[in-house]
Amino acid sequence: MAVCDKGEWDQIDDIHEFNREWVEGCIRVLKDDGTIWISGTLHNHPSIGVTLKKLNLWIINDIIWYKPNASPLLQKNRFAPSTELIWIASKSKKYYFNYEMARCLNNGKQMRNLWELTAERHKTTHPTEKPEKLMERIILIGSEEGDTVLDPFMGSGTTGVVAKQLNRNFIGIEIDNAYFKIAKNRIENTQAKSNLTGYLKSLQQTKTQQEFYAESAK
Ligand SMILES: C[S@@+](CC[C@H](N)C(=O)[O-])C[C@H]1O[C@@H](n2cnc3c(N)ncnc32)[C@H](O)[C@@H]1O
Repeated sequence: MAVCDKGEWDQIDDIHEFNREWVEGCIRVLKDDGTIWISGTLHNHPSIGVTLKKLNLWIINDIIWYKPNASPLLQKNRFAPSTELIWIASKSKKYYFNYEMARCLNNGKQMRNLWELTAERHKTTHPTEKPEKLMERIILIGSEEGDTVLDPFMGSGTTGVVAKQLNRNFIGIEIDNAYFKIAKNRIENTQAKSNLTGYLKSLQQTKTQQEFYAESAK
């Protein structure tokens, strides 16, 4: 049987209070036209939705990230989970959103809120490491070069790695010392892409979305 013990951080007494506190903290430092992207599993979605409403935030989208290669479920009492939900919200209806980037990354077509992205092989021992390609898409659409990206639950630092590659500044917060060290090391060993414009052109012109993400999963 696969053990899925994510650690003590996954056991929280009052999830609503916890979410209110950290989302409020992020909004305090969010630029007026910035966006907050919150991913999670079914257990936390309802509370996040209520938190965003209670804090009077503008809910822009929910993205369903569909993982076609999600692990099968051993139990026979429910469907095998193969999605994660990502909320996007802002302080007001005026926010930065790179529509053209999204369109280009989707082979010239308007991007929808169902993202089919293969889960990547983990690069670290962190149990919930996100694929770099997922973070890349989010950072390219949600920020500009030179902006600052904050990940208050940094884990093994995937957001920081991608932010640095894409010429964004990065602030990461992580409660677990071991994960913090892994993240710091990973980020320090990451180089910003030397020809970001060329890289973006290559993403936009030479591959369809499916080809691009299938390749990254190899
Ligand atoms: C879902 S994981 C993040 C994974 C990360 N995005 C990645 O791709 O590597 C959540 C992380 O938040 C950390 N964490 C939990 N509670 C925290 C808190 N109160 N302050 C800072 N970090 C916390 C955990 O140790 C864990 O590494």
